Amino acid sequence: MKFFIDTANLQQIAEAKDLGILDGVTTNPSLMAKEGITGKSEIYKHYKKICDLVEGDVSAEVISTDYEGMIREGKELAMISENIVVKVPMIKDGVKALVEFTKLDIKTNCTLVFSAGQAILAAKAGATYVSPFIGRIDDSGWNGMQLISDIYDIYSLQGYDTEILAASIRSGLHIVDAAKAGADVVTCPLDAIMSLLKHPLTDIGLEKFLADHAKAAK
Ligand code: G3P
Repeated sequence: MKFFIDTANLQQIAEAKDLGILDGVTTNPSLMAKEGITGKSEIYKHYKKICDLVEGDVSAEVISTDYEGMIREGKELAMISENIVVKVPMIKDGVKALVEFTKLDIKTNCTLVFSAGQAILAAKAGATYVSPFIGRIDDSGWNGMQLISDIYDIYSLQGYDTEILAASIRSGLHIVDAAKAGADVVTCPLDAIMSLLKHPLTDIGLEKFLADHAKAAK
């Protein structure tokens, strides 16, 4: 399973990269706004900085919601770097745009996916990644992880190539459950990735190993 970080914060991206397990980055308009980045040229410059920092795929989302606008923006975004994956919302014009980007050999991430039916459409349109939003489904009182399992079963049965990118991940438990459910990728905030490191028995065990080593060395 690939690990992406879900942020536009360069420091956090660098920290995750430093761990040596980072495969890519996802961003969205909210995450870019959180960093205070506004205006097309600033936004594109920021994507370039992210692409220069990491080796893997970097999802950059279109703002347009009409077919022509998405195609124009997607082509511009794809010019920034070969790392760029054009993130397209699961709406009617988005599906049409995914089909066109597939023809143009531009990598895509179909975002805002909340049902198996939407995931089937994304795969039919040739999306490179499909992003089901686990945490937001949980927030609405339903089972986000069940959707990952359902998409995994459908894609396996139908032989779809689209990779399942579990998004809206909120915790280490989400990461483990997404791995069990068959996600190809998880995109997570830095603290969710780092939470995987922690176990009290690791700390206690290490303390004892070091104490025993020090005792024996005396
Ligand atoms: O980038 C898409 C997704 O990961 C958003 O997560 O936490 O805003 O629901 P969240």
